[in-house]
Amino acid sequence: MPGPDLTLGDKVALVLRGLCNQADIEHICNEHNIDPDSFERWCQAFLAGGTEKLDITIRAEELAGAGSYVDATLDYSLANFMLLGTLAKLITVLNQRDSYTKNHSDAVAQYCIEIGKQLELDSDTMQTLYVAGTLHDIGKISVPDHILNKTEPLTDEEAKYMKEHPRLAIELIGWEGSLRGIAEAVYHHHEHFDGSGYPEGLAGEEIPLLARILAVADAFSAMTTDRPYRPGMNHVDAAGELLDKAGTQFDPSIVEIFIRKVLRIPPNEPHDRS
Ligand SMILES: [Fe+2]
Ligand SMILES: [Fe+2]
Repeated sequence: MPGPDLTLGDKVALVLRGLCNQADIEHICNEHNIDPDSFERWCQAFLAGGTEKLDITIRAEELAGAGSYVDATLDYSLANFMLLGTLAKLITVLNQRDSYTKNHSDAVAQYCIEIGKQLELDSDTMQTLYVAGTLHDIGKISVPDHILNKTEPLTDEEAKYMKEHPRLAIELIGWEGSLRGIAEAVYHHHEHFDGSGYPEGLAGEEIPLLARILAVADAFSAMTTDRPYRPGMNHVDAAGELLDKAGTQFDPSIVEIFIRKVLRIPPNEPHDRS
């Protein structure tokens, strides 16, 4: 059982190492007033973001040292940690309202992490990326059901409403402190590399790196998911679509890494469509 003198970061380290049983986890949650489901979810997020570095640190150091590493990595204050937990619950609510986003946010977060690993992003950035992937469509919570679940093409007015979701997300996440990186990635995930996207029309490297990663992961997940009005594309065809839009919609270097290193599609595929 983790002692009262340990910080929350120490306790997260213990949970991540599998050294806490369910009763211990419940005790930690009670002590810090954290919802157990959220706690587990965010432990997974930290694990996904920092596994390799965390393992090395834990092997090399005594328990106290491992805890201090996690504290350094766990750059979220307890207030932000709890805010993230609340936002995760909102995503669950959104997923219940919208059959499409069911599993979509988790898939996007996983693709993001795979791209991040190839880019050798540091552990903090990986955590930010993972959380941004999970929360990227949270602004859709305020989009009415008849627009969210519409199977026919959206009218101009409805599309305009839908395009507000990055802005609405920021109203929930805010721009403050340690959540700023998450907010930036979420806010800009519909920018296009050639400047034709929204909400700000940023181009190239003006678009934050994590938002450029998110855009590729998001589009790939959307294309390969079954919808009521069309089946999902296979991976090779969806990779072809990404290649077609590399340099216009997407950052071409990220498309290349995603297709060749993450999906491991060989260079002769998808076939040249030009
Ligand atoms: Fe979106
Ligand atoms: Fe999305």
